[in-house]
Amino acid sequence: MTEQGNLYTVNVNVNGKDYSAEVPARRTLVDFLRYDLGLTGTKEACSVGVCGVCTVELNGSITSSCLTLAIQVDGANLTTIEGVADGDDLHPLQEAFMNYGGFQCGICTPGQIMASRALLEQNPNPSEDEIKDWMMGNLCRCTGYYKIIDSIQKAGEVIRLGK
Ligand code: FES
Ligand code: FES
Repeated sequence: MTEQGNLYTVNVNVNGKDYSAEVPARRTLVDFLRYDLGLTGTKEACSVGVCGVCTVELNGSITSSCLTLAIQVDGANLTTIEGVADGDDLHPLQEAFMNYGGFQCGICTPGQIMASRALLEQNPNPSEDEIKDWMMGNLCRCTGYYKIIDSIQKAGEVIRLGK
């Protein structure tokens, strides 16, 4: 990372593509993604690390992009909701959230999918309680949660069966 004036150059790989941008020291990762890189799939709601809406994958672990500074991800590999599908093939979670009513307004959905994707990578057959435990940091004001749980379990089934 290099500093020019009050700006810092951040080099990062997002969804397999290299980006470079100059940012002020206080730029959050969610703002960096949305406003500097134009990747608006990641949403922001609480801005204080409580709701999970802004969840992204950073070097293999999920993190709240509202609590992370852009300058902290210099040299990192990130995956955002834009990188979850395989070309035109949606991720099983994306299919399941659409098919089983896992979203309504959709604001929480990118974060729900990033968080549950990390769960299914570890455990493609989670129980309802395991899903509730893992997803407790991802809030939703619309769905009542049960359709999100259903969607995650249906996606796990697809992943297990290799469909
Ligand atoms: S916007 Fe980041 S946790 Fe709520
Ligand atoms: S679908 Fe609206 S907040 Fe979750």
